[in-house]
Amino acid sequence: MKNIVVLVSGGGTNLQALIDAEKSGLINNGKITCVVSSNPEAYALKRASDNGISTDIIRRKDFKTFEEYDEKLTALLISKNADLIVLAGFMTILGKKVISAFKNRIINIHPALIPSFCGEGFYGLKVHEKALEKGVKLTGATAHFVNEICDGGPIIIQKAVEIKNGDTPEVLQKRVMEEAEWKILPKAVSLFCEDKIKIIGNKTEILE
Ligand code: GAR
Repeated sequence: MKNIVVLVSGGGTNLQALIDAEKSGLINNGKITCVVSSNPEAYALKRASDNGISTDIIRRKDFKTFEEYDEKLTALLISKNADLIVLAGFMTILGKKVISAFKNRIINIHPALIPSFCGEGFYGLKVHEKALEKGVKLTGATAHFVNEICDGGPIIIQKAVEIKNGDTPEVLQKRVMEEAEWKILPKAVSLFCEDKIKIIGNKTEILE
């Protein structure tokens, strides 16, 4: 059974999708054992405690340097015996230390079809604002491994979502979550827990 630690910052609807998937038996061989938040006010923390999952808080601003923060987060995740770390709306960039300590064991959900609308500055609602500004007809979500390049690690699953006339960033965000994020994130986590993701260079192959 793999030990899953989920990192959050806000509402935690992706965390909820993971909790629901675990409860309904959609995540084979994995268990969410801890939720770590960058924000003590995050509603995601309530979702965790309502489901009997232990929580921790680590804030970037409580550390003098980014290196100290990176060091502390790495130590925290090691102390939790994490086999897999899931970034479910985690809004703080990860440092080199944590990324190398958990190489190919960190999965992120991004609300666009990478390599579109990704990289630094593309997070949350901003991603959808940019997609609408550009006038693309399709967007979606991507579950991918995290490496040292922001949103640049091996892609695991993508799902396209249609943009409709009159969409606002908020309306589009909700559609992308419902139709893509809440489906592909639990799926990617389940595949990882069953050792069904083979990484070849910067690509993956799903063994099904
Ligand atoms: C989600 O749309 C997630 O894809 C996005 O933030 C939202 C968090 O919502 N993540 C990023 O933009 C990361 N670059 P949630 O807290 O309800 O899961």
